[in-house]
Amino acid sequence: MKKTALMCAILFCTHQLSADKIHTLDTSKKFLSKPTDNLSNEELETFILGKSFFRIPWVEAPSATTARDGLGPLFSANACISCHPHNGSGSVYSKDGNISRSLVTRFSLKDKLDDKNGFVPDSTYGNQLSINGVKDVPYEGKPTLKYEIVPFLYPDGQKVELKKPIIGVSDLQYGLLDKNTVIAHRLAQPLIGLGMINKIKEEDILKRQDVDDKDGDGISGRPNWAVDPQTGEKKLGRFTWKASAVSLKHQVAAAFINDMGITSPLYPDENCTQNQKECVDAPKGRDEFDLPMQRLDAVTFYVGHLQIPKPKETKEFLEGQRLFESVGCTKCHVPSYEVNGQKIYPYSDFLLHDMGEGLSDDGRVEFDAKPNEWRTQPLWGVGKRATILGQGDYLHDGRAKSIEEAILWHGGEAENIKQRFVGLTQEEREKILEFLKGL
Ligand code: HEC
Ligand code: HEC
Repeated sequence: MKKTALMCAILFCTHQLSADKIHTLDTSKKFLSKPTDNLSNEELETFILGKSFFRIPWVEAPSATTARDGLGPLFSANACISCHPHNGSGSVYSKDGNISRSLVTRFSLKDKLDDKNGFVPDSTYGNQLSINGVKDVPYEGKPTLKYEIVPFLYPDGQKVELKKPIIGVSDLQYGLLDKNTVIAHRLAQPLIGLGMINKIKEEDILKRQDVDDKDGDGISGRPNWAVDPQTGEKKLGRFTWKASAVSLKHQVAAAFINDMGITSPLYPDENCTQNQKECVDAPKGRDEFDLPMQRLDAVTFYVGHLQIPKPKETKEFLEGQRLFESVGCTKCHVPSYEVNGQKIYPYSDFLLHDMGEGLSDDGRVEFDAKPNEWRTQPLWGVGKRATILGQGDYLHDGRAKSIEEAILWHGGEAENIKQRFVGLTQEEREKILEFLKGL
């Protein structure tokens, strides 16, 4: 306890141990922010330390508080929580009607791949559009977004209007993008059960790969072999929309550098390119890393030990669950795994699938993932995010404004199974949606 109080004094955290007591009711906005059960006192301290670095805004260097300076020079946001509100997902627009910072714009050269990043960044703007810069460092530019309406008609006459995003950038402050640079949008994902996903046995994921579709069911999940920045080795990718991060720590360190310009032992270099003089010349944090290993580990521990929401198993939920399985959604959204003797229900196979042209990026690769390939997004919490947190944007770029729209965008390997969903009666479809809302 004493150590925690000291850490809090250093970090100005307002949440003391008592505020983190475990509640059984999970209908409050904190339902994704509580620690898992059975943490020891020492683990709870690490959790609280990690939480403080997740929530407290970082400041630019030099500052009096070196523990949390080093923001930028170029950055998208100054705290993890600003893109993952309540540890949930981002949104396409913020309350003021502007494009939200939690929808990030990525840059890479069309169809080009290097061994380190799994793609080749733009030579001037790097791999992500920074919408902010510290003092005297111009931001890079602003995202633009328009939608094209794609009407969808069910065989029973019900209509849905799908919206296909048309994305771009404007107001570029450092000249033109490379001729071959392509643009992609990524929405911040919810932070659910990540510690458990990290621990799923590799063989439990790999046994479902079916690269050449030998079983002839039209579905050929394959792993993304990505590079671990800590060891340089190729490993099974598990995190991000493309499974391009091999471990939770890898993804947390990548978030620190790409989204906030915070260096760590995994990413020791500032995110300026040589064509950005103001960024290169800007004052940097005094220490070797803005975020030393112990604090990177604490943030990783924090996001890895958040309580997983429990489904509300009503009669409709159970009926919907049966239909979800019988139309074949579970071929990719694999319901459960056993991790250290505990059963978890992420509803994902953590493999890549061709999801069709409609969902494809324009020529962006990430390691083995082609533009039209995506990791099956886990579905735990998918409904409660909307009902409790009001977070109703789905899919990698947030284009779907309801769970139903997200399903209707499924194509490629998922086309046949989507058609089975489409061919159900409206009442049956509603049951599947009720099931997903209960997750
Ligand atoms: C500027 C907005 C932004 C900020 C700030 C941000 N994130 Fe994210 N986060 C995202 C986006 C976008 C993705 C999806 C990235 C992708 O798929 O390539 C993501 C994905 C993740 C994931 C992967 C989840 C999954 O299911 O695979 C984790 C973990 C994560 N962020 C943690 C963090 C942490 C920790 C911080 C603070 C260090 C942070 N994020 C800060 C936007 C942000
Ligand atoms: C071939 C594999 C596959 C099948 C089959 C499949 N899905 Fe998916 N699902 C995915 C992938 C991959 C994504 C992420 C796509 C993206 O973001 O572009 C996804 C995303 C989703 C999402 C959005 C989640 C979010 O948080 O944004 C929902 C909801 C969903 N699927 C429901 C279903 C339902 C219901 C079925 C059955 C009718 C189904 N899926 C069948 C692979 C599949």
